[in-house]
Amino acid sequence: MARVAIVTGGTRGIGEAISVALKDAGVTVAANYAGNDERAKAFTDRTGIKAYKWDVSDYDACMAGVRQVSEELGPVDILVNNAGITRDTTMKRMDHAKWQEVMDTNLGGCFNMAKAVWDDMTGRKYGRIVNIGSINGQAGQYGQVNYAAAKSGIHGFTKALAQEGARTGITVNAIAPGYIDTDMVAAVPEDVLGKIVARIPVGRLGRADEIARGVAFLTDENAGFVTGSTLSINGGQHMY
Ligand code: CAA
Repeated sequence: MARVAIVTGGTRGIGEAISVALKDAGVTVAANYAGNDERAKAFTDRTGIKAYKWDVSDYDACMAGVRQVSEELGPVDILVNNAGITRDTTMKRMDHAKWQEVMDTNLGGCFNMAKAVWDDMTGRKYGRIVNIGSINGQAGQYGQVNYAAAKSGIHGFTKALAQEGARTGITVNAIAPGYIDTDMVAAVPEDVLGKIVARIPVGRLGRADEIARGVAFLTDENAGFVTGSTLSINGGQHMY
């Protein structure tokens, strides 16, 4: 029977590319999204992948969402924690809400979703979890104390959980994307983005499908010896 995957934030940007790559690899995919119904419907019409709406920062909603997917598609074998938001601004202007929202969604979401699938994966002695971190979690970024802290947290979360899952067939890995051509990066002011791209050795933004290839590799049945690792896909911008 086909493996079942949940991709959070799976209907747009990097998440959409991951959902499609997993479907192409023969996986039954549930693409989670939080808000944009119109984009989610267009995604389902385009790809044939079912979209499920819940907020990953809401613990109870994650529990209910995973239950629904399991009932409809089967137990979850693969979790890709991709959902993330930015609330960029300098420390001077960052209020507590901007800090908390990013922590709750980007890092809290990883805990909530992993918790929701963990007992079942442990019981069935199989699981693949991939958390999408960031170059800015590795290197920091001006204007992103919230985002960099949350993404850096994802890298620690990954290494700790990998140790807990190792004996029960569950691998936990991270991907650290660089600057990828998505709506999130398009929101960076043009002059700032120009300076960032000038520092990427490959000389361009990355494409979402270049991240999705990494996820397909890490979630493969035969990747059972790869755990606790971070795969940087950033055009050489940060060699870590
Ligand atoms: N290093 C040093 N100084 C910097 C700087 C930097 N990287 N960026 C800005 N500054 C300085 C400016 O020179 C300016 O100084 P002066 O006042 O002395 O001239 C001061 O900081 C304020 O800069 P701005 O006028 O640009 O201030 P702002 O409030 O309008 O914007 C900002 C600040 C929000 C940080 C804006 O520069 C920005 O959006 N930067 C990009 C942040 C970024 O890269 N986000 C990534 C989003 S994509 C993503 O997160 C995906 C992923 O995982 C990679």
